[in-house]
Amino acid sequence: MDLQDIDLFSSSFSFTVGKSNRQSKKGTIQGVILSIIVFIFAIAYFSYLLYQFVNNQIDPNYKSQSFITEERIDINLGSDLLGFRFEYDTNQDIQNLQASQNQTYLVFYAYFYYINGTSLTQTQLNIIQCTNPQLAGFYCLDFSPVQNYTLTLSTKENLQSQVFIYTYGCLDIDFNKNSIPSNCANQTEINKIVNGVNAGFRFKLFTSQFNTQTKQIQVNYRNDFVYALGNYISYTTLKAQKQITSVKQGFFIQSQSNYSSPIAYEKDNQLWDRQYTINSINQSGYGMLELIMNEIVQQVEIQYPTIPSILALNKIWTLVKDQHNYSSNNNLCYNKKNKKKFFKKQEIANSDIKLNHNEKLQSILFRFRFFDKKEYLLSKGLDYQQKKIIEKQLSKDLNIFEFYKDILFLKKAVMILLSSEQLAAIKIIGCSSNFLEQPKTLINKDNFLNNTGSLNYFQEQYNLFESENLQFEKIEQFIKRCQQNTSLTEIDKRLLSSICI
Ligand SMILES: *[C@@H]1O[C@H](CO)[C@@H](O)[C@H](O)[C@H]1NC(C)=O
Ligand SMILES: *[C@@H]1O[C@H](CO)[C@@H](O)[C@H](O)[C@H]1NC(C)=O
Ligand SMILES: *[C@@H]1O[C@H](CO)[C@@H](O)[C@H](O)[C@H]1NC(C)=O
Ligand SMILES: *[C@@H]1O[C@H](CO)[C@@H](O)[C@H](O)[C@H]1NC(C)=O
Ligand SMILES: *[C@@H]1O[C@H](CO)[C@@H](O)[C@H](O)[C@H]1NC(C)=O
Ligand SMILES: *[C@@H]1O[C@H](CO)[C@@H](O)[C@H](O)[C@H]1NC(C)=O
Ligand SMILES: *[C@@H]1O[C@H](CO)[C@@H](O)[C@H](O)[C@H]1NC(C)=O
Ligand SMILES: *[C@@H]1O[C@H](CO)[C@@H](O)[C@H](O)[C@H]1NC(C)=O
Ligand SMILES: *[C@@H]1O[C@H](CO)[C@@H](O)[C@H](O)[C@H]1NC(C)=O
Repeated sequence: MDLQDIDLFSSSFSFTVGKSNRQSKKGTIQGVILSIIVFIFAIAYFSYLLYQFVNNQIDPNYKSQSFITEERIDINLGSDLLGFRFEYDTNQDIQNLQASQNQTYLVFYAYFYYINGTSLTQTQLNIIQCTNPQLAGFYCLDFSPVQNYTLTLSTKENLQSQVFIYTYGCLDIDFNKNSIPSNCANQTEINKIVNGVNAGFRFKLFTSQFNTQTKQIQVNYRNDFVYALGNYISYTTLKAQKQITSVKQGFFIQSQSNYSSPIAYEKDNQLWDRQYTINSINQSGYGMLELIMNEIVQQVEIQYPTIPSILALNKIWTLVKDQHNYSSNNNLCYNKKNKKKFFKKQEIANSDIKLNHNEKLQSILFRFRFFDKKEYLLSKGLDYQQKKIIEKQLSKDLNIFEFYKDILFLKKAVMILLSSEQLAAIKIIGCSSNFLEQPKTLINKDNFLNNTGSLNYFQEQYNLFESENLQFEKIEQFIKRCQQNTSLTEIDKRLLSSICI
């Protein structure tokens, strides 16, 4: 491999160099050195990014929105969903006091209500000791009688389920509690407990969330506290807000996983006058907890980067791709500044004569085909052998050394054919500035004929070269002349014999 092949900053080059047909770019030693530096730097930076990627140190994309919906929202009912207890003093559970004194102050009742339109289903739930270590010392609900239900809300369908926990004094009687346990404390003692300075209801509420650092679901409990007062029923409503998280991860092809769970609880607390409530609606107790669904849903999308996106971060490669682009200018019609002394200064015409024709032909001839190449070429009227020969000729013509040889040959020929005065005069052949200013699109037969008087010989020939129409016309004239005229010059004869159509 040529060392210059690895020059990332090489410039495009239309000619072939040496015998190689593949070389289409021209590299330099400076370019090679720069390329190696860039390559080493890019590899090092990529390794650094890869290290960060593997160790989850690159932040994922995080999108979140709160969405209010009328559609159905559900969360599963499980005994871990909430923990509760009554504290007669800071962190002092009433049940411990009751067990040690062998008398009852407060009793709990729990219900599950399912409301579909106007129909209501009520199910009493057992209160059990929580088994989850995060809920140690709290009481949980046994949802096994309502296994096929969820905590649900659909404002559209008038569908809702509710979890209610009632806290009664041991001696209370109402629409719901119609018995009194045998070992109740007297009302004075119960009031004393309820009115304790730090007495109140404590709740622990389940949440879980996707931890982007550990890529795991992490369970945490929200905490809430409501003070109790002997002459009030404290009515607490907790609206559970659901979070739906979709996580996309994977090195190349990403897989999606969805998680959902309650994430937040909106709290609303009302104090009902206890005596008035007993008298008016036969509702007693010290506290009521209502757990329902919130119509706000939080949607979270987390997307981890892929290896290709890491590569995209490595912007060096884009720099490398941004190569220089040169096009060769070839001035056929130009004058030397210090003058195809004597004349006015004339402007230099920049006419780009590129080897476009060759390139186009090449692309037609050597274009990649899925079906049989030979058949395709035959259909285009080209035999495979012919194609091979043309290909050989083309690559030979594109070889800059061949090109240079041809130029030397032409130079020598001109030097031999012309006298020394003629040769010197060639140097000052050119186009006048008003000729150059005239737009090339105007060159056609008419104004060519109109102009012939005012143009010099070189300009006329130049015009002819620029216009294909004029060339056809002149060719036609030549052939006509050759057919009609018997006394042709030697050059005419040679030309005629060399024409192939
Ligand atoms: C609600 O009740 C209606 C009629 O009583 C019933 O057709 C519908 O299936 C119920 N919906 C649910 C979710 O239970
Ligand atoms: C749950 O199951 C009970 C019977 O076991 C049934 O009456 C009730 O309609 C079911 N509820 C739902 C929401 O499927
Ligand atoms: C409340 O309801 C219970 C049970 O239905 C009943 O025994 C009691 O007398 C009622 N009390 C009042 C004040 O209406
Ligand atoms: C608790 O009190 C009840 C009645 O008040 C009695 O039957 C029971 O034996 C007592 N238990 C203990 C452990 O003292
Ligand atoms: C309530 O019980 C306490 C202790 O057991 C007793 O001192 C008090 O007199 C009782 N009060 C009433 C009204 O029964
Ligand atoms: C996750 O949720 C999205 C949108 O609700 C859904 O298109 C996708 O299929 C779900 N993916 C899985 C694995 O359940
Ligand atoms: C090089 O530049 C010329 C004009 O400046 C443009 O027409 C041509 O498309 C460019 N080639 C590449 C490979 O960018
Ligand atoms: C060429 O010259 C003729 C006569 O002078 C004139 O009528 C015609 O318009 C000219 N054509 C152009 C294209 O200038
Ligand atoms: C025939 O061609 C010669 C040379 O090109 C020319 O001098 C001569 O005038 C032509 N004769 C006719 C009849 O066109």
